[in-house]
Amino acid sequence: MSTHHVVAIDGPAASGKSSVSRKVAEKLGYAFVSSGLMYRAFTWVVCEVGLDPEADPDAVVALLDKTKIEASRRDNELFLLVNGSDPGDALTSDYVNGNVSKVAKIPDVRKALVKQQRACAEATDIVMEGRDIGSVVFPDTPYKFYLDASEVVRARRRAAQGLGDEIAERDRLDSTRKVSPLKVADGATKIDTSDLTLPQVVEALLGQLSEQGVTPSST
Ligand code: DC
Repeated sequence: MSTHHVVAIDGPAASGKSSVSRKVAEKLGYAFVSSGLMYRAFTWVVCEVGLDPEADPDAVVALLDKTKIEASRRDNELFLLVNGSDPGDALTSDYVNGNVSKVAKIPDVRKALVKQQRACAEATDIVMEGRDIGSVVFPDTPYKFYLDASEVVRARRRAAQGLGDEIAERDRLDSTRKVSPLKVADGATKIDTSDLTLPQVVEALLGQLSEQGVTPSST
């Protein structure tokens, strides 16, 4: 069991999780981990092999054994190497955006990646963002947040990033799947980021963490 601090930040696509988590990690001196990147990395392999995750989930699970996803720490952030290669921009390609929720709903895929996510906290304090971090991956952490924003605001944010991501469909799949659906974890602090700037959201999280005794590192 980890003795390190885990700040869990969950929420739907484009709720601001990544930017907020990265900043909070930087302020606290913790490592930032995007669990979504792990699902994206494996989905990229599924794509390279040419599998249809809905038609052939068993083949997708079999591919897990042949896939090595390694996380290495660089500048307080975890980077992924997939079978020795950096997938780079392929992680936000249309194929990955369109298939990641279909891959992520396969129970054995989740089991394998949740194990890797838990391992991230064995070496260091982390801020991890995703969909089930506070509810399933680290249910015992006292530091849990759920970020949300209106659908209009989230679609605008995605478009501003130049990504034609079908977030409404992804959210539907992520929150209705049987295993570990997106939901507000017990004990999580909910923040609607629709009308807040990034510094305001970061301040809200740091304020709450400080009340719980977690303060920014002085280095
Ligand atoms: O955070 P993101 O948009 O990069 O995540 C991509 C997909 O990965 C998301 O639509 C669902 C899946 N995911 C998940 O099922 N569980 C997580 N903890 C993180 C992501």
